[in-house]
Amino acid sequence: MEDVKKLKDEGLMKISEMKSLEEVEEFRIAYLSKKGLVQGLMMQMKDLPKEEKPKFGQVVNELKQELTKSLEEKKQELEEAKMNAELQSEKLDITLDEYTPHIGTKHPLNLIVEALEDCFVGLGYKIAEGPEVELDYYNFEKANIPADHPARDMQDSFYINPTTLLRTHTTAIQMRELEKSEGKMPIKLICPGKVYRRDNDDATHSHQFMQCEGLVVGKGVTLSDLKGALEFMVGSIFGEGTKVRFRPSYFPFTEPSVEVDMTCHVCGGKGCSVCKGIGYIEILGGGMVHPDVLRINGIDPEIYTGFAFGVGIERLAMIKYGIKDIRDFYTNDIRFLNSFKRLD
Ligand code: DAH
Repeated sequence: MEDVKKLKDEGLMKISEMKSLEEVEEFRIAYLSKKGLVQGLMMQMKDLPKEEKPKFGQVVNELKQELTKSLEEKKQELEEAKMNAELQSEKLDITLDEYTPHIGTKHPLNLIVEALEDCFVGLGYKIAEGPEVELDYYNFEKANIPADHPARDMQDSFYINPTTLLRTHTTAIQMRELEKSEGKMPIKLICPGKVYRRDNDDATHSHQFMQCEGLVVGKGVTLSDLKGALEFMVGSIFGEGTKVRFRPSYFPFTEPSVEVDMTCHVCGGKGCSVCKGIGYIEILGGGMVHPDVLRINGIDPEIYTGFAFGVGIERLAMIKYGIKDIRDFYTNDIRFLNSFKRLD
């Protein structure tokens, strides 16, 4: 009985001090296997007097059960600790694999369109749109450019069929809007959009580009109103104080027609390498809406007058951002686009 108690105390003590599952296994073999210490105690039973045998057997059995139970608990405890340690070491550190999304930028052409929209919406203009696949009728006929007119040659286009083409200028939208007005005045709008011409692409030509048309029709609209509107426009894009000047020109849909220059945004008009010493930079065409164009749309030119202009978006962007090659707008080089990050 002494031995039983000793083995029990010693066993429980060892179990309580265990630190690894290997020790659990070693203990099981040393104490609880067929050749283990507990079994060894059982063997002593044969030397005991007969009446003590049952009691001894029972006590050794209890010892075996107690050690087994206690060892099992220890085993579970150590297994849990081991698993927790493994989980801890495998814990996913999401900051290591952080994904940095690439934030895009507004395209420089859109920056110019937005600047124009802000400027003219502020003056009470509405924004109009039209189809890029356009009828010859709106692109040419209504703009006073009949089939045999030489002005067509300058806008050689992509024809879908003999009466349909990719529009060559936003003037086609102007014609649609004049027709849509059904004589209700005043009209005050801008229409930005893509246009197409059969051009060979180089640093200053692109078969696809963008324009923004302006149109104002009402009572008493004059050429000086056009000048005022354009001066406001260049002021808001290139800086206050930028002036415009008119030179006589020709467009079939305006009379008189003007070519519009602005004072060089770099030297302010003194003359520099950007404006080639002239002090002015050519930016757009415009004029007073031709009386025939008004008439054909049911607007009496004796009562109403109007001005119109058409500006190239690429041209404004190239001047403003100092871009030398128009193709840069369309080749989508991410380095080029990213250089506009801080502007949008
Ligand atoms: N449509 C002309 C072009 O593409 C630009 C233009 C000039 C538009 C004068 C106008 C205008 O509305 O009045 O070259």
